[in-house]
Amino acid sequence: MSTIFYGALISPISLTTYDALPRALLAVSRATGDIDWVERDVPPEALQHVLARHGLLADDVELVELKHGEFLMPGFIDTHIHAPQVPNIGSGQQHELLDWLAEVTFPMEARFADVDFARRTYTSVVKRTLDYGSTTCCYYGTLHLEGTKVLADVVHGYGQRAFVGKCNMDRNAPDYYVEPSPAASLAATAALVAHIRALPPHPAAGDALVRPILTPRFALSCTGELLAGLGALAAADPGLAIQTHISENAAEIAFTKALFPRGSLPGAAANVTAGDDVDGEEETTYAGVYDAYGLLRHNTVLAHAVHLDAREVALIHARGAGVAHCPTSNFNLRSGCARVGMLLDAGVKVGLGTDVSGGFSPSMLAAVQHASMCAKVVALTAPAPPPAHTTFTDRQLPVPALLHLATLGGAAVCALAHRVGSLAPGKAFDALVVGVRTDAGNPAVWGVDLDRALGLRASGGEPGDEGGRGKSDVEELEGMLERFLFCGDDRNVRRVYVQGRLVGGKEHAAA
Ligand code: GUN
Ligand code: FE
Repeated sequence: MSTIFYGALISPISLTTYDALPRALLAVSRATGDIDWVERDVPPEALQHVLARHGLLADDVELVELKHGEFLMPGFIDTHIHAPQVPNIGSGQQHELLDWLAEVTFPMEARFADVDFARRTYTSVVKRTLDYGSTTCCYYGTLHLEGTKVLADVVHGYGQRAFVGKCNMDRNAPDYYVEPSPAASLAATAALVAHIRALPPHPAAGDALVRPILTPRFALSCTGELLAGLGALAAADPGLAIQTHISENAAEIAFTKALFPRGSLPGAAANVTAGDDVDGEEETTYAGVYDAYGLLRHNTVLAHAVHLDAREVALIHARGAGVAHCPTSNFNLRSGCARVGMLLDAGVKVGLGTDVSGGFSPSMLAAVQHASMCAKVVALTAPAPPPAHTTFTDRQLPVPALLHLATLGGAAVCALAHRVGSLAPGKAFDALVVGVRTDAGNPAVWGVDLDRALGLRASGGEPGDEGGRGKSDVEELEGMLERFLFCGDDRNVRRVYVQGRLVGGKEHAAA
């Protein structure tokens, strides 16, 4: 049996192009939750014929017809979010990173020692991220094993795709919120990995939806012994993902370099590779610290990356690690504007993260909007015009790039691009039905139904004008995407599917 969606479809292709298909037909296998096939342009009168060509009779399928003003798109991939910080959204904006951690964040995270509190809080958190359209999240828990197991259980129960990690932190944290030793931190980490891998599999999907992820909070909260232990866990388990923070704030960077002088790093002499200073001056780099402990690889997610130097960009690229760009947080905590365009031109994988609650919104739409503004600030303040041979460096990010960052780019950062991030045959149906119609109830979105009623339809052809009409439909759909990205909120996220299952969205909530 299949579920067939008929209507408008948006799917990223690259940083510069995406598919905008006004009359697509997409089949989802009910057995697996994967996308079986996509037909790009099916006029209504050809519907039965196309189904028959795929061996389907109308009675075999559940046909879901989208309305005018609705479209399918891949779900958002939030590559960086702290689940226990969600209760703090909207507080603490007066601080910079290190004060904010001490004053606002650690006191809240410490409360998750209470497992019942954790369960009640995480239930509300996961429901919110799903309803905002995040079909995959890279979650940080707290340093507590039991509370973070609960986070994984709640995510699993809701059917969200996610990575769940327990923070490692055995120094530079308050007495009430620090792990007693590297050994204790590593043992709890291994126990969480085992717990997550033992969760019952999704009834249909071949691969687990919830996966473990090593989560050294950031270098300065970990002793060298702890980082070395995590590096050993990673080396023994190449499929195990890793997430951490990097180069977010000036004080944090200076502290990190002071804590890890180059000579102190494992393999200090041998480790003279892509991270080296060509002048021979041997200074530690932040990325070089993680690399020395074996924590930079194809499935490492590095949050922020605001102040990387050229050696670090080259090293991150060489290792195949990815960056979670967190512009809402980087503005809110006054960390700076990451040069995402430069990273993209350097070939580094980049996705977006909400970084709640450094970022004050659990919505990936806010991350998209702030990524656009951040790139514009970078362009406005660049010391020189962008080099002609570059595509993104010091320029604004066009809509295809913003869409890519929020979906397929994020999937690549999580090493999941073979499964999610675009609506293609063989991939999981992790998707949103978006509505930019007046009846969604979001006054910030000018409904496309009003466009039609007022004769404001996008330029490119009049209805009935054969040649121009197709172009006009595509332009109208492109306009819908841009409106959603810049003006949308959860009211425009009508339905949210993960691995073919309806798990969130306004219509799900209403049902
Ligand atoms: N660096 C270390 N911990 C954190 C955190 O919780 N949020 C942010 N934004 N940066 C961090
Ligand atoms: Fe963070």
